[in-house]
Amino acid sequence: MRRRIAIMTSGGDAPGMNAAIRAVVRTGLEHNIEVYGIRQAYTGLLNGDFQHLTSVEVSGILQRGGTILQTARNQEFMTPQGQKRGLRRLNEKGVDALIVVGGNGSLTGALALHNLGFQVIGIPGSIDNDIHGTDMSIGVDTALNTILEALDRLRDTASSHQRAFLIEVMGRNSGYLALTSSILGGAELVITPERPVSMEEVAMSLEDAYVRGKSHAIAVIAEGAPYRVTELEEFLNKNPNIGFEVRLTILGHTQRGGSPTAFDRLLATRMGVAAVKGIVDEQSGVMTAMVGREIKMIPLEDAVSKIRSLSEGYFEMAHFLSR
Ligand code: F6P
Repeated sequence: MRRRIAIMTSGGDAPGMNAAIRAVVRTGLEHNIEVYGIRQAYTGLLNGDFQHLTSVEVSGILQRGGTILQTARNQEFMTPQGQKRGLRRLNEKGVDALIVVGGNGSLTGALALHNLGFQVIGIPGSIDNDIHGTDMSIGVDTALNTILEALDRLRDTASSHQRAFLIEVMGRNSGYLALTSSILGGAELVITPERPVSMEEVAMSLEDAYVRGKSHAIAVIAEGAPYRVTELEEFLNKNPNIGFEVRLTILGHTQRGGSPTAFDRLLATRMGVAAVKGIVDEQSGVMTAMVGREIKMIPLEDAVSKIRSLSEGYFEMAHFLSR
């Protein structure tokens, strides 16, 4: 009998998810496998919202941001009852394997299904790059380029007005986007959940940049910083010693949209192809991971058990390159 597999995109959307869907559908067809898309992630799974995906359905989506299958964050699937109900839906639809593209929470759901005996493969998709075991997740490169474009623009206006800018980027638990964009965007300071900086220290760094004669100063702040950026802005603008007037820009969800970069299209395509091959090879409970230049399979258990750590070398670079 022809095999039938399903794919869902889950959690925060990430540019490149569509490229992964396309790769899964077309690689499936190559192996005579029928592919179904589950709409709105675990919510759609629980509601039985499945859609047959043919080659035509995934035509023209490679370059599109977001996800044609839509996504959701679902609490019910986090419970054992929800997971059993999800398994029942998969069985009702005659699906015998599932590919989940998403971040930590979504992959934890995938692991739960594997532990119930269902064949599951994960693909890391999250702009945060916080998934352990893979050098890069789908969407990170595009988000980073979006941040850099904004940062370059903000520096133009910052130096015209001799101002300091606070720029908040995404990353609840991880400062990857903040740290990397601070190095690539030439920021004076970076604040991450991994390495918090007190408000007083921020003030001192900005003052130091002013005294050294810089025409502007930029601080990149991850969402997971220990204080709200609005509080920080208020604190800094009350401090007359800083020299610069301070302005705040929160990049927010602009970082999640947009056409995927070449890197993300390639990563998503390679991971989509590898996931289907993994299913054909009867693998389960694993995640596609970029390790060096290779796409490998690593246990989902490892991927979800830790948050990817940030490179010590990047922190050092950020520090001495900002002088
Ligand atoms: O996990 C991806 C992410 O973009 C985080 O960086 C951010 O904190 C979160 O999603 C925002 O989630 P939502 O779109 O549900 O507000």
